[in-house]
Order: sequence, then structure tokens, then C-alpha cells
Amino acid sequence: MPKTTQHSIENIIDNLHSAVVVVNQDLSIEYMNPSAEMLFQISDTRARGRSLKKLVIDEHEFIDRIERSMQSHHPFSMYEAELRIRTGQSVVLDYMTSPIEYRSSGQYLLLEFVNPGRLRKLAQDKALLNQNEASRSLLRGLAHEIKNPLGGLRGAAQLLERELETENNKDYTRIIIREADRLQSLVDRMLGPRDVPDKTPLNIHKVLEHVRQLVQVENDTVKFIIDYDPSLPDIIGDESMLIQAVLNITRNAVAEVGPDGEITFRTRPLRNYTIGNNTYPLVAKIDIIDNGAGVPEDLKEKIFLPMITGRADGTGLGLSIAQSLVNQHDGLIEYDSIPGETTFTLLLPLNNDTE
Ligand SMILES: Nc1ncnc2c1ncn2[C@@H]1O[C@H](COP(=O)(O)OP(=O)(O)O)[C@@H](O)[C@H]1O
Ligand SMILES: [Mg+2]
Repeated sequence: MPKTTQHSIENIIDNLHSAVVVVNQDLSIEYMNPSAEMLFQISDTRARGRSLKKLVIDEHEFIDRIERSMQSHHPFSMYEAELRIRTGQSVVLDYMTSPIEYRSSGQYLLLEFVNPGRLRKLAQDKALLNQNEASRSLLRGLAHEIKNPLGGLRGAAQLLERELETENNKDYTRIIIREADRLQSLVDRMLGPRDVPDKTPLNIHKVLEHVRQLVQVENDTVKFIIDYDPSLPDIIGDESMLIQAVLNITRNAVAEVGPDGEITFRTRPLRNYTIGNNTYPLVAKIDIIDNGAGVPEDLKEKIFLPMITGRADGTGLGLSIAQSLVNQHDGLIEYDSIPGETTFTLLLPLNNDTE
């Protein structure tokens, strides 16, 4: 093969979205493209010469299939397989093997990994961002429409109160004023935080610890498990907004788990992660996990919408507000819930200069 062609082929493989790994007969790694480096969180140079077994944890079945494909010279595909990669993370992906043979240097196996889960999730994330934006603007419009006449109503009741002679009648105007105030504060909460974020470098663990202490004061029986990655760099954000977002999620978790519940705070960095339309070199992943009964099935699609609640005393505003606070940091909140394990994940880009 001419040299230039060889180079351009390597270049093409390097730019593939699917992860490509080539192993030799002993399952030693001969080559990894950048997508594979990202998937397995190891560089090509470090991976070369190592065994494929080192990239995954306890994946005997996976290794078994690869060995069989190598020995039988038969290609092999597996869909929606769950793999635990060397960092401990579980990923769901499709993978295919293609045996290749070079006359001079023997037998190799080309492995391709594609991540359908991530693609599906990207579409879901975008839908979530759009949904939140649409519902918040609807609510804002409605709230403004209520606010204006409400001010007039309250003012008129105050004027009327001054005209009234008897205390008895004043009780009625006071009810009008009190109820108008109550409605006003509800509308304010519906409008959500209006401030522009005041962003400074801050340690996300400080935010989490602050919330943990607050919540422990309110409820001292719930057990917190802390799993922080101390290497996570500072994020540029508005501290009080992020405290509010984490607090809303944590209070929901506390309400779900009951007295002997457990809540885990976990932080991890994610490299080259896409949120909405932007890919960021580094994203902070903050998981708030509880062991409660899980999000009710009929609410699953809509818990981030305002006024959606599964509780008799709920307002349904907590998650909607948390989502827009995090959106103001170019981030996203998503969740996953099965009975006994509900995880709310805050994704916050760390390098805000990268759009
Ligand atoms: N950790 C959780 N586990 C189970 N369900 C949850 C959890 N967090 C939120 N939910 C569901 O989402 C709904 C909406 O939450 P939220 O927006 O905070 O409003 P509220 O707390 O006022 O109900 C809750 O009423 C509950 O049904
Ligand atoms: Mg709530």
C-alpha cells in the first residue's frame, strides 16, 4: 500500500465515532483509535501490548466470545451488551468482531464498539432541555399575567380598608390582602430565580457538604454516603444557585427514603462529554442516589415539568427550578430510577470557555 494511502486510512479510523481496537492472537492490544481511548479511558500508547482483559473488569463472557471469534475466524456481533470497563463504569454498547489475517504476521481481530445508549441519551437530553425551556416560558408568561392584576387587587383592598369604619369589615379586606400576598409568593416561586448567575470559581464538594449539613439538621436519621473524587477541579458557577439545585434534589430524596434511608453523594469527572449541542473537554458528574421506592411510573416522563408532583403536599416546582438553575450553568440534570435506586445526575461543564 502506498504510504499516503496508509496515512489517510489511519486518519479515517482515528476520526471514527465508533471505538476500534485491534488485538493479536494473544488478545494483546495492537492499536486503539481515539474513540476507543475515550471509551476505555486509556491512551493507545499505554494500552499497546497490554491484554484486552485489562480493559474490562470481570467480563469473562465478553473475553470468552472474543477468544472464540479469534479461534473460529468467525465474525461476531453482540447488541446492547453491558460491559464494566476498567474504571468501574458500566456501559451499554453494541460490539462486533472481524477476524483479519495478514499473510506475513498472522491473525488479528478487529473489535468495533458503538454506543447506542449514548446516542439515545443525547436525543433524550436535548428533548429534556427543550421541554424545560418551553414549559418555563409558558409559566413565566402566565405568572406575569397573574401578577399585574393581582397588584391592582391588593392595592384596591388596601384603599378600601382605609375607608372602612368597623374592625369587623376590615377582617374581609385583610383576607383579600393576605390571600393576594400568598398568591404573589406562589407566582414568584413559579417565575423562579430571576437573578443572573454570579459566577466565581468554587469547589463543588463544598456545595455538596453545605447541602448535606442543611439536610442532616432537618433529618438526622437519614444516612449519607460520600464518594467524592478529590481531583475534580473548581467549577465556575453561582454558589447559591447550585446549592439550591442540589438542595431541591436532595430534599426530594430525603422525602422518598424515610427514616432509615441512605443517600449517596458521588462526584466524577467525565472527559469529552456532550451536553445539548456542545462537547466539553471536562464535565463534573454529580450523582445524588437514594434507596427509596423510585419515581412513580406515571410521572416518569414529566417530573421536570413545573407543577407536576407525586406528593399531597408538593408544589412540583423543585425539579423544574433545579433544572433551570443548572441550565444557566450550561449543564443538565437527568435521572434514572428503579425501585430501591434512584439517581439524579447533575452534569456541569468545567471549562466554560469551550462552546
Ligand atoms: N428521589 C426521588 N424518588 C422518587 N420520586 C421522586 C424523587 N425526586 C422527585 N420525585 C418525584 O418527582 C416529583 C416532582 O418533584 P419536585 O419537582 O421536586 O416537586 P415536589 O417535591 O414539590 O413534589 C415528586 O413529587 C416525586 O413524585
Ligand atoms: Mg421537591
